[in-house]
Amino acid sequence: MKVLFVAGDPKPERWTVPISQLLPEADVRVWDPNGPAINADYAIVWQPPAQLFEREPGLKAVFNLGAGIDGLLKVPNLPSDLTVVRLEDAGMSAQMAEHVLHQILEVSRQMELYRHQQRQSQWKIHRPINRKEWPIGIMGLGHIGKRVATTLTSLDYAVNGWARSEHSIEGVHTFAGNEQFGEFLATTRVLVNTLPLTSETENILNYGVFSQLQPDAVLINVGRGEHLVEDDLLRALNEKKLQRASLDVFRKEPLPAGHPFWERTDITITPHISARTLRDATLEQITGKIRDHAKGLPITGIVDITRGY
Ligand code: GLV
Repeated sequence: MKVLFVAGDPKPERWTVPISQLLPEADVRVWDPNGPAINADYAIVWQPPAQLFEREPGLKAVFNLGAGIDGLLKVPNLPSDLTVVRLEDAGMSAQMAEHVLHQILEVSRQMELYRHQQRQSQWKIHRPINRKEWPIGIMGLGHIGKRVATTLTSLDYAVNGWARSEHSIEGVHTFAGNEQFGEFLATTRVLVNTLPLTSETENILNYGVFSQLQPDAVLINVGRGEHLVEDDLLRALNEKKLQRASLDVFRKEPLPAGHPFWERTDITITPHISARTLRDATLEQITGKIRDHAKGLPITGIVDITRGY
């Protein structure tokens, strides 16, 4: 079996050596933009070039090195009948839950104020958190959104969840579809986006949405930059519809120098690190699925290309 590794890592051997160890029966190669076809059976990819699908028409499945497959679905020439498999958790949901919790605590526990006080050698205690004042709304209830939601319910936050279809998660007040979106927003102060990027969810974080949240709202975007209408965020912050935003993803990454977000004190910027692809767990999962697929066994995480996730 031939496995092709196609990701822009300058040290691809960090991936191909463990792949060969985990899958000794495979001939593992690194994508060479100028090389010949190798008749690969499987490809392990992150944002691959369009030539991949022209040069390797015999691929039986493509495994994405991330949870979000929007980058892969955008690649021209992606055959519509190709089996595309996304990463399922592999340590991501725990990281995402930690990241979101951290961003919430920054505001709900006034951490910036305490850091400021430390710089002034000031010992001053402010009123304790009242969880009732911090209802959280999670958009997207897949593996990641669900883990974020249950982490927060375990800490006694009031958690709302919204997704396209109905979900039932213990302790979470769930809402579904466009009809219930307004109700979800009206009961939410901290809006957390974990949605996949599709044509339906693009630009979903906009002024109209921010205006429906509870006062002093906070936005945490760990989905994709394209979910957010950037000018609408600035307007909502300027008008104090939102008190702050924590952004881990951007329309253009790296976020360009001079972008207005950089100098805002009411925006926290992190460079797409809320949930990293963890090599060991990821390769264990993907090589296990390749082995099963090659044996004709069913595998999970196959993407519905028309749905977009
Ligand atoms: C990261 O953004 C991912 O999709 O896994």
